[in-house]
Amino acid sequence: MAKKLVSESRGYLVRTVADAKDLAREFLRQVNGFDEAKMSFGLPEIDDRFHIWRVPIRVTRKKIGEVVIDAKMGRIDEEKTTKSELLVEREKEALKASATARKRKPDPVVSALPNMVIQGDSIEELRKLPEESVNLVFTSPPYYNAKPEYSEYSNYEGYLELMRKVIRVSANLLSEGRFFVLNVSPVLLRRASRNEASKRIAVPFDFHRLFIEEGFDFIDDIHWVKPEGAGWSFGRGRRFAADRNPLQYKPVPVTEYVLVYRKKTDLLIDWNIRKHSDQDAVRDSKIADGYETTNLWKINPSRSKVHPATFPEELADKVIRYYSFKNDVVLDPFAGIGTTARAAISAGRRFVMSEIESKYIDHIKSWMSTFPGFDVDDVTFVNTDRPDCTNKHLKF
Ligand SMILES: C[S@@+](CC[C@H](N)C(=O)[O-])C[C@H]1O[C@@H](n2cnc3c(N)ncnc32)[C@H](O)[C@@H]1O
Repeated sequence: MAKKLVSESRGYLVRTVADAKDLAREFLRQVNGFDEAKMSFGLPEIDDRFHIWRVPIRVTRKKIGEVVIDAKMGRIDEEKTTKSELLVEREKEALKASATARKRKPDPVVSALPNMVIQGDSIEELRKLPEESVNLVFTSPPYYNAKPEYSEYSNYEGYLELMRKVIRVSANLLSEGRFFVLNVSPVLLRRASRNEASKRIAVPFDFHRLFIEEGFDFIDDIHWVKPEGAGWSFGRGRRFAADRNPLQYKPVPVTEYVLVYRKKTDLLIDWNIRKHSDQDAVRDSKIADGYETTNLWKINPSRSKVHPATFPEELADKVIRYYSFKNDVVLDPFAGIGTTARAAISAGRRFVMSEIESKYIDHIKSWMSTFPGFDVDDVTFVNTDRPDCTNKHLKF
């Protein structure tokens, strides 16, 4: 025997998907300013907790609202239905966005940028590169330190404004619909005296605001988890471990954020894949088994004798392989000793490294000159001399 429809067993007046669509269409025809010819319906669904049908309304494949129908009475539930003015407004926006997307977007082209190592202030230097010439940004920002004797930034707001400028200039370089991935974590400001409390600044959440304001969509928050013990040296949690008083509880931080943003676009990620101008590169970039399936990435921290705040190459490697294709250009505007470039070379990507401190640039030159299988002649050096490779084992 055929299974009874939910609508039948509940005795609803509105029995079928077609009935629900007819009622919704009739309603939308009455909405002043709404062009019913430009919309389509998504799949109507019954919500039998409330005895209603929900009929999604879509314009250019985007859901702009829903018509809700009282399933027993066969009447529109105007309270629950998206308000008419909103429908009209959203329909206009969706049509406008799709028209600009169609007009604006030629198919992506392969960037002509060579590998680059640039010495100088990213805000100044990156402006000189062509728009949309990089395909991924991965970086970790300089640390904000509030102590006037160490801090290069007048105050935290000043720091954030500089970071905004770097995000803006990098966004301009990113090609359509590509990703900006940021490794960042809260900062602990130590107390100046016993009578003061230490303070933690939620830097990642302030960066989130900057990204949204600068035209990015939030995609993911990945947590880089370090092995237990990694954070104890900072002393957080010691007081609680001794006294065990509530309110004094402080967990030892063993994670950093890896925040993933996509440059705002109406185009689906599928467009970036289908329209990529080198389909061989797309095929060669497929990710093998053993990839990270959750947003918890367990990776050991890195240590460098040269730089106090590097991230591990394994982290850069994962980000690069998951968010770019072979031969893409990966930008790190805060390059440090060039960990992102090492990972980019190993993954068959190009790189643009920009770093303000000459000592770190020297270190990049040093390892690049001897990096197995890599020819430093393939790098354009800006504001700094090409390394002398007459003796390839020369250390700087
Ligand atoms: C957290 S470190 C990055 C370390 C890097 N991820 C690595 O593994 O080597 C941030 C770097 O940004 C650099 N920096 C700070 N302000 C800069 C600016 N305006 N332009 C370019 N580099 C800058 C600092 O000198 C520092 O090396």
